[in-house]
Amino acid sequence: MKMKNETAIVTGSTSGIGKKIAELFLREGARVAICSRNEEKVNQTLAEFKEEFGDSVIGVPCDVSDPAALKVLVDKTVEAFGSVRILVANAGFNLIYGPFEYFALEKVNSVAKAVIGTNLIGLIDSVAAVLPQMKKQGYGRIITLAGGGADRPLEHMTIYSASKGGVLAFSKCLAKEFKQSGDDLKLNIFLPGMIDTNLATNIQIPEDWKDRETYDREYEIIRNNVMTDLEESCLKVIPFATPLCKKNGTLIKGFKLTKLIKGFRQVAKEMKKME
Ligand SMILES: NC(=O)c1ccc[n+]([C@@H]2O[C@H](COP(=O)([O-])OP(=O)(O)OC[C@H]3O[C@@H](n4cnc5c(N)ncnc54)[C@H](OP(=O)(O)O)[C@@H]3O)[C@@H](O)[C@H]2O)c1
Repeated sequence: MKMKNETAIVTGSTSGIGKKIAELFLREGARVAICSRNEEKVNQTLAEFKEEFGDSVIGVPCDVSDPAALKVLVDKTVEAFGSVRILVANAGFNLIYGPFEYFALEKVNSVAKAVIGTNLIGLIDSVAAVLPQMKKQGYGRIITLAGGGADRPLEHMTIYSASKGGVLAFSKCLAKEFKQSGDDLKLNIFLPGMIDTNLATNIQIPEDWKDRETYDREYEIIRNNVMTDLEESCLKVIPFATPLCKKNGTLIKGFKLTKLIKGFRQVAKEMKKME
């Protein structure tokens, strides 16, 4: 067990990547606080994990866009485990997919507030909420979630990509500050690759651009060709969450670039056939 005596908060851990990372940490012997906005989903996931991992897990409903809720999450974790040695700032979503010009100002404004409010501001606040505890411990491992469009242009996901570009910039700057601090604090950035989760399916498409059926058929082609396996990707995070990690400010890649490029070539071929 690589994570005995470790304590972690994984935000957005009732589904997808966050849930898998929480499970892998628990399997390695860590104690983990899970959270999401939906109390019912938190309770369901908690019950599922408790069956296998007993009292090593707690669940706290928490919306990361609410600083007061983040404070409660940290306080409850410290109360239960005595420390917070790891934060995986994972909570995030996308709301719309399509060319920017298809969305009206009002829509853009409300989507940007929601997506950036959680993916970027919620992430910044999550880090701010655990940092006093980590400073007190003189120790902490933080993993932030970047993603599509953060470091290279990606069409049709402009607002989401803006939030992730912000995560990348924030993370690199803070990692630099950590280097100068006297504490053993490390922050690294996870790029999981394309993973088949609710992220791409719980999404609105402008109907005057593309109908839902076409989107679903195209997504099926992507699903069959370019997806990275959830567990294979999330396992890459573990070495960055332990005291052995000396890396700081680096990108943790959960995917193989060559496989991704090959997959996208196949997608292009199959999409052409669809036309
Ligand atoms: N899937 C991919 O291909 C991919 C690629 C790169 C990066 N990522 C990033 O990975 C992270 C996880 O995404 P996923 O693909 O695993 O999606 P997912 O399956 O939809 O999981 C997202 C989780 O975050 C929670 N959440 C959303 N907003 C929240 C908020 N404001 N406060 C607290 N919890 C919140 C959701 O629960 P509730 O809705 O119940 O709150 C859920 O548990 C995101 O940051 C995403 O941008 C994903």
